[in-house]
Amino acid sequence: MISSTLPLAALLGLPTVLGAVFNVTVAPQGKLVYEPEFVNAEPGDFIQFTFNPKAHTVTQSSFDTPCVPLPGGATTGFVPVEAGASPQPIRIFQVPEGNTPLWFYCGQVGHCGQGMVFAINPPADPSPKSFSAFKALAIAQNGTASANATSSSTPLTFSTPPPQSWAVATATVSQGSSTWTTTYTSYAGSLPPTPGPQVVDHKIEVGPDGSLIYNPASIQANVGDTVTFEFKAKNHTVTQSSFANPCSHLTLPDGSLGFASGFKPVDAGATEFPTFQIKINDTTPIWGYCGQTGHCGQGMVFAINAVESGPNNFAAFQTIAKNTASTSGGGNNSTGGSGNNTGNGGNGSGKPSGAISGRVTSVFAVTFAIVGVFLLSL
Ligand SMILES: *[C@@H]1O[C@H](CO)[C@@H](O)[C@H](O)[C@H]1NC(C)=O
Ligand SMILES: *[C@@H]1O[C@H](CO)[C@@H](O)[C@H](O)[C@H]1NC(C)=O
Ligand SMILES: *[C@@H]1O[C@H](CO)[C@@H](O)[C@H](O)[C@H]1NC(C)=O
Ligand SMILES: *[C@@H]1O[C@H](CO)[C@@H](O)[C@H](O)[C@H]1NC(C)=O
Ligand SMILES: *[C@@H]1O[C@H](CO)[C@@H](O)[C@H](O)[C@H]1NC(C)=O
Ligand SMILES: *[C@@H]1O[C@H](CO)[C@@H](O)[C@H](O)[C@H]1NC(C)=O
Ligand SMILES: *[C@@H]1O[C@H](CO)[C@@H](O)[C@H](O)[C@H]1NC(C)=O
Ligand SMILES: *[C@@H]1O[C@H](CO)[C@@H](O)[C@H](O)[C@H]1NC(C)=O
Ligand SMILES: *[C@@H]1O[C@H](CO)[C@@H](O)[C@H](O)[C@H]1NC(C)=O
Repeated sequence: MISSTLPLAALLGLPTVLGAVFNVTVAPQGKLVYEPEFVNAEPGDFIQFTFNPKAHTVTQSSFDTPCVPLPGGATTGFVPVEAGASPQPIRIFQVPEGNTPLWFYCGQVGHCGQGMVFAINPPADPSPKSFSAFKALAIAQNGTASANATSSSTPLTFSTPPPQSWAVATATVSQGSSTWTTTYTSYAGSLPPTPGPQVVDHKIEVGPDGSLIYNPASIQANVGDTVTFEFKAKNHTVTQSSFANPCSHLTLPDGSLGFASGFKPVDAGATEFPTFQIKINDTTPIWGYCGQTGHCGQGMVFAINAVESGPNNFAAFQTIAKNTASTSGGGNNSTGGSGNNTGNGGNGSGKPSGAISGRVTSVFAVTFAIVGVFLLSL
């Protein structure tokens, strides 16, 4: 309740009935915590969350189920942040009327179970509803101990996670002297579909030293980058598939087939190696495999822009590939299986599409929830 809040209020165009501002850092240095972990605030105060890289959320829950969204509660949705992003995205929450405790967590898979939770006005210890009690409950309900039974089971009982969900997000892009914001839809947790600071050609070795692997097997690439596969030995392919059907050539929604290098035989002792290059048009995850008989079922698969923090990660993809072989002898299905695999919709192109200036344009959207308010801003 002090005057240091003036610039913020001015920036947001808020009414001049001012509350105090509490700064909370989301995942400082990559740690899965909010810092501080709780605040004591008055109705009308603001909590300013500053997001660090990867994709986190601030999602309201209840004390009894810390890792489950509260019906009608507030959420930022996923806020994807690239490494080194500057400025970092900010989301602002206004404390509603009433001095009841408010509980929050990060909706990214696994984070809440590792104790990434937050509270406003939690009762102090030793109350059974203190912040530390809330955090312990989150870990008990969604932590690895509770998942132990399933995670240690054999790959053969692995079940395919659901297709990734789509989310609308806002990213700040800087290129040269221009900075602009772009709103786009993407798979939750994936990189913003914006060009990197410079175009990169990523190299992936295919079957180095006679092994049945791609090296590296899982990479992250920005829009505009290229990926060059270099075939080092034997007789492999680079063939696009889908997450759900790792060992089958992908059929795109328009009926055409995904990319495929064809077989690239390499003589023993060769000193020149064939290559195959693809261009990254968006940051939708790209999945692929070696079409040589038996190789995919032995785990010879690769991924570009897999969301490693979610269930549709590279390890899960490779597990499905191995299971495909053991259950159906190679997986002969050519349908994509995972629905629309067509890339980022919306205005995700790397071109400045709106205001461009030295200063970041501020996007102002407001989400009113029954029990709290997020003011979305940059
Ligand atoms: C909160 O963050 C803003 C912007 O990052 C900064 O100007 C302000 O001084 C911070 N306030 C406190 C109390 O740390
Ligand atoms: C926590 O576990 C509950 C019950 O299994 C589940 O419904 C919820 O989605 C989990 N939350 C997160 C963030 O994983
Ligand atoms: C979890 O797994 C570890 C190692 O496999 C085991 O030692 C531990 O007892 C398990 N915990 C539970 C709760 O199952
Ligand atoms: C590469 O493998 C394909 C498929 O098994 C086969 O048709 C082709 O003859 C092989 N090429 C060489 C040079 O071994
Ligand atoms: C990117 O677009 C180009 C041109 O439309 C296309 O040839 C290429 O296959 C696309 N890349 C991927 C990975 O789909
Ligand atoms: C795979 O599909 C092809 C063409 O539809 C078919 O000829 C072949 O018998 C199938 N193989 C298996 C193992 O189902
Ligand atoms: C191919 O996929 C369809 C639909 O997912 C399924 O009904 C069919 O059994 C699959 N065929 C094979 C050979 O796996
Ligand atoms: C998937 O494709 C179908 C048909 O092309 C379309 O109706 C649907 O809106 C798409 N869904 C998403 C999430 O893009
Ligand atoms: C992109 O943004 C423009 C203007 O905001 C809008 O008219 C257009 O429909 C958007 N395109 C997509 C694919 O969402």
